[in-house]
Amino acid sequence: MSQSVRAYKGITPTIDPSVYVDEASVLVGDIHLAKDASIWPLVAARGDVNIIRIGERSNVQDGTVLHVTRKSPSNPEGFPLIIGDDVTIGHKAMLHGCKIGNRVLIGMGAVIIDGVTVEDDVIVAAGSVVPPNKTLKSGYLYVGNPCKQARPLTEAELAFLPQSADNYVRLKNEYIEELTND
Ligand SMILES: CC(C)(COP(=O)(O)OP(=O)(O)OC[C@H]1O[C@@H](n2cnc3c(N)ncnc32)[C@H](O)[C@@H]1OP(=O)(O)O)[C@@H](O)C(=O)NCCC(=O)NCCS
Repeated sequence: MSQSVRAYKGITPTIDPSVYVDEASVLVGDIHLAKDASIWPLVAARGDVNIIRIGERSNVQDGTVLHVTRKSPSNPEGFPLIIGDDVTIGHKAMLHGCKIGNRVLIGMGAVIIDGVTVEDDVIVAAGSVVPPNKTLKSGYLYVGNPCKQARPLTEAELAFLPQSADNYVRLKNEYIEELTND
């Protein structure tokens, strides 16, 4: 197993064999990566004080940071990080202790803070900040800091969300092929 995948307190990430984990990323602790997910260079994901789950065909692009918040008496579940299926997380995003639905695009450099729920079929614009405990409603574009609902997604954007995930599945398959050709 790559050195970028490490145990914390005896728990090692569990990774479907179809997943691409770039060797320049770091994954620690209680993380599960489902079928056809991909993790790109310089991603840092720490499932140490709570869990991280990443769904099928979801991609986490370069430089993104994923972390969680521990359980406490005032917050018995803490804030795990749960990412659904067919999610695209753009370069250098920051996702902390939040829940992301299916077919979501998190734009480059977006910051999503504890307790946020992003429902299915949402785009969060590049550079947006989503304040703690907000719910982003299905079918909308959210933009800005603090983010606001900008408009409903178009049919083309709704169709693009699973397509973006598919593009990354194809790309990660090419990267896996490169490794097996080495
Ligand atoms: C949001 C996004 C999809 C733009 O879509 P768009 O069709 O150009 O947006 P709209 O024209 O409907 O913009 C609505 C408003 O939000 C503003 N806006 C668009 N993107 C913005 C952003 N990232 N930050 C702040 N404001 C933004 C527009 O200027 C417009 O403002 P106005 O009404 O005052 O003119 C695009 O800007 C974006 O952020 N894409 C994410 C790309 C990405 O990170 N991909 C992952 C890597 S592959």
